Amino acid sequence: MCGIVGYTGPQSAVVPLIEGLRRLEYRGYDSAGIALGTPGTLFIEKRAGKLVNLEESFDESLPVVHSGIGHTRWATHGGPTDRNAHPHVDNEGKLAVIHNGIIENYSALKAELQSRGHTFKSETDTESVAHLLSDLRKEHKGDLTAAMRAAVKLLRGSFTLLAIHADAPDVIVGVRRNSPLVVGLGKGENFMASDVAAFIEYTKRAVELGQDEVVTITPQGILITDLEGKAVAPKEYEISWSAEAAQKGGFTHFMLKEIFEQPKAVADTLIGRLSDNNQIVLDEIRMSSAEIKDLKKILVIACGTAYHAGMIAKYAIEKWAKIPVEVEIASEFRYRDPIINKSTLVIAISQSGETMDTLMAIRHAKSAGARVLAICNTNSSTIPRESDAVLYTHAGPEIAVASTKAFLTQVIAVYLIGLHLAQVRGVMKDSQVAQLYYEMLELPGKIEQILETVEPLRTLTRSFAQSESVLFLGRNIGYPVALEGALKLKELAYMHAEGFAGGELKHGPIALIDKGTPVIAILPSSHEHALDEKMLSNIQEVKARGARVIVIAQESDEVVGAEHIIRIPRASAIFQPILATVPLQVFAYEMAICRGNDVDQPRNLAKSVTVE
Ligand code: M6R
Repeated sequence: MCGIVGYTGPQSAVVPLIEGLRRLEYRGYDSAGIALGTPGTLFIEKRAGKLVNLEESFDESLPVVHSGIGHTRWATHGGPTDRNAHPHVDNEGKLAVIHNGIIENYSALKAELQSRGHTFKSETDTESVAHLLSDLRKEHKGDLTAAMRAAVKLLRGSFTLLAIHADAPDVIVGVRRNSPLVVGLGKGENFMASDVAAFIEYTKRAVELGQDEVVTITPQGILITDLEGKAVAPKEYEISWSAEAAQKGGFTHFMLKEIFEQPKAVADTLIGRLSDNNQIVLDEIRMSSAEIKDLKKILVIACGTAYHAGMIAKYAIEKWAKIPVEVEIASEFRYRDPIINKSTLVIAISQSGETMDTLMAIRHAKSAGARVLAICNTNSSTIPRESDAVLYTHAGPEIAVASTKAFLTQVIAVYLIGLHLAQVRGVMKDSQVAQLYYEMLELPGKIEQILETVEPLRTLTRSFAQSESVLFLGRNIGYPVALEGALKLKELAYMHAEGFAGGELKHGPIALIDKGTPVIAILPSSHEHALDEKMLSNIQEVKARGARVIVIAQESDEVVGAEHIIRIPRASAIFQPILATVPLQVFAYEMAICRGNDVDQPRNLAKSVTVE
């Protein structure tokens, strides 16, 4: 939550700052603001609402200076107003701070600072840091870096902070605790940001920061120190994502672009995973055969869409590797006493690698003795860094708040893990594993086929735009797909939507069906078990009560009772989620458009949820 960017170098700072904020807006869009390093008193401009409001406020008074900090906000403390927008400044207007996270002890700090004569103008937790830093900087003879180190020792909570002072405007100081911050190394210019997307256009060289590390950037270089002032060697890495990948590339929305990137994302995540002797190659999971054979339980933790990928993991891993799998919402997991030991593998799934609920669950699992394997899409983010091993998905940057391509690649990753474990534990033959892998290689082409034929679905969706709620039904591995379809519709169309296991309907939810209620049913493949018949009965039950039923069914499967049928290509039942999810994404996308909603930045949400 909240996007942060800092720049110092030869450019007019407003250019990289606004460009960076545009690319970070997915992290929050309640307000935006900048502080420019004008000597004497900083130039501050901030506005409630999206970045465009800030840009529209610029006039000829906008100074051309060469350093600054910028912020795009997802509100926690204090509503989304101009006053609560970041940056926040000290009494003299010489020191500005931007913040992502929560300062838990801000009220005590605020009371103390007020008693020392500081005047507060906002309701935010962040403003207390601006005043605190101002006092500490004076105590440390004008050294902003030393002041930041001292301030951090007094703060509780999670935060990324950037600060700038008008007396040395080309120096920007940052720090991170449980919240992301990366440094971009340019030629004669340097950057800091929540995410590499902010500066990818200017440099591919990045430096990751550890917990409680303070970084000072100037145009000439960077210095990283720990809280005692000891220098820390920079851990540099090359950014593999291209600048174009973080742009819309001719699509009207990032979400649509990302839906259409799914064939490639799935193919890239699968590529090179089968050796010549038919072994699934997953060296990254860093487990010996003995450790894999010793596994007694797998626990999957994740949030939102990633949690739905976790549910699919249960079906796949139990089916193939014969290891019991529990799946839990990360925010619930750490408030119980899980039974975990060295024979437990925890799999944490996260697109961003920064989700605080998942991160806290990982720490909880590690403290209980579990080994943690992350499935993540974002290189060098916090979750992979804190896990014992990481399997990266290769979806490329996912900018739209609603997760699409990351989900499909997470599902592919759990399939690969399931097959690998099954193979090492000797419960599946190499030939069976290879056959399933080859079938997976056909999935990108099948997704393409679906995408080539979505136009009628888009038209159909419009006919449901006035509905109050939509219900989704699934059975077996189609159940998480139903949940995912409902989540997408809620977050994008702001409609009441719920996903149910088809068999559970008669235990209560069927009362929701009224004349004309749209119901989307994912029909299990008829080829593997008789579940399709059970779903067809569920369809009759809702139809008898007035529902308008849309069925997602594999080619040539018999469907009775549907008002509309959306056909997807044939695949083994276990792989059906990869195909059945795609029309549901398109349905939610189109519904959002019909209802005039902001597709890429739906209300109240943020892409990266870095608060608990
Ligand atoms: O970055 P993560 O995968 O950890 O994010 C988890 C959820 O916040 C995320 O999947 C969220 O549910 C999406 N907006 C859903 O589209």
